[in-house]
Amino acid sequence: MTTFAHLSDLHFGRLHGEAADALLGDLWTKNPDLIVVSGDLTQTAGGREFEAAREYLRQMPKHPVVVPGNHDLPAWNLVERFTAPTWRFRRYIEPERFPLQETEDVVVLGINSTRPHGWYWDWGRGRINLTQIGHIRRVFARRLESKLCVVAAHHPFLRPPQEKRHLVHGPRDLMRLLADCGVDLLLAGHFHKVHTELAATRHPSTPRIVVAQASTSTSYRFRAEPNAYNWFEYDRGRLHVVVHTWQDGQFAAASEKTYVNWHGHWEHETPKARETHGT
Ligand SMILES: [Fe+2]
Ligand SMILES: [Fe+2]
Repeated sequence: MTTFAHLSDLHFGRLHGEAADALLGDLWTKNPDLIVVSGDLTQTAGGREFEAAREYLRQMPKHPVVVPGNHDLPAWNLVERFTAPTWRFRRYIEPERFPLQETEDVVVLGINSTRPHGWYWDWGRGRINLTQIGHIRRVFARRLESKLCVVAAHHPFLRPPQEKRHLVHGPRDLMRLLADCGVDLLLAGHFHKVHTELAATRHPSTPRIVVAQASTSTSYRFRAEPNAYNWFEYDRGRLHVVVHTWQDGQFAAASEKTYVNWHGHWEHETPKARETHGT
């Protein structure tokens, strides 16, 4: 079995210090096999914010898989934004463009979904290009059947209820390509809203992969939801996720879901599904 914690949108610069300390305590207590941080480490991509974020990551029980978010690119220094948008992130946080960690039954690959500019006003939007898809395909081509293949990016693939902001560009085509690469689980952040769902539940034409998006784990940048992080347990085709939200001065389990892989397709684990598949 592998356990992993999914944190997101730490936003040093708008830090909720009490939640940040409690989260570190949880990580040391639970001691997950892997830790994933899906972007927005900082608020304005400043050097001091990155230094504080680096120090925080160093205090975790394990070196996490980290990808940049749109807030980790310089917003006002356009020269830097156009010429070296992620240099501070690479210097302070993670030099690898495709950070990869694995256990005996889980592989996590980080992908940079941020873009420094585009033909639209909101440069906070995200994309994943075909070069990145090609890399994902090559990495997961050597996967063993029993390994859970996880991609972590910053921009979300599914829109939570009541959410109007942009998803990563072309999410449904992207999910088909990623499923074709063998991806089982997509982790993201950005909306600061907890959302875990089978992609096919929302859009029947999309593959049966699981999408999990985390709230801001440690900042005051609330979007009508408290701080939270996702806790995963994976064991032989069964994926259990527990959302821990900030309540009364601590993180506590607030909701949970279980998914099961039936012959390559993910489904909610329900009594009906168990009956259908004869287990
Ligand atoms: Fe954020
Ligand atoms: Fe973001």
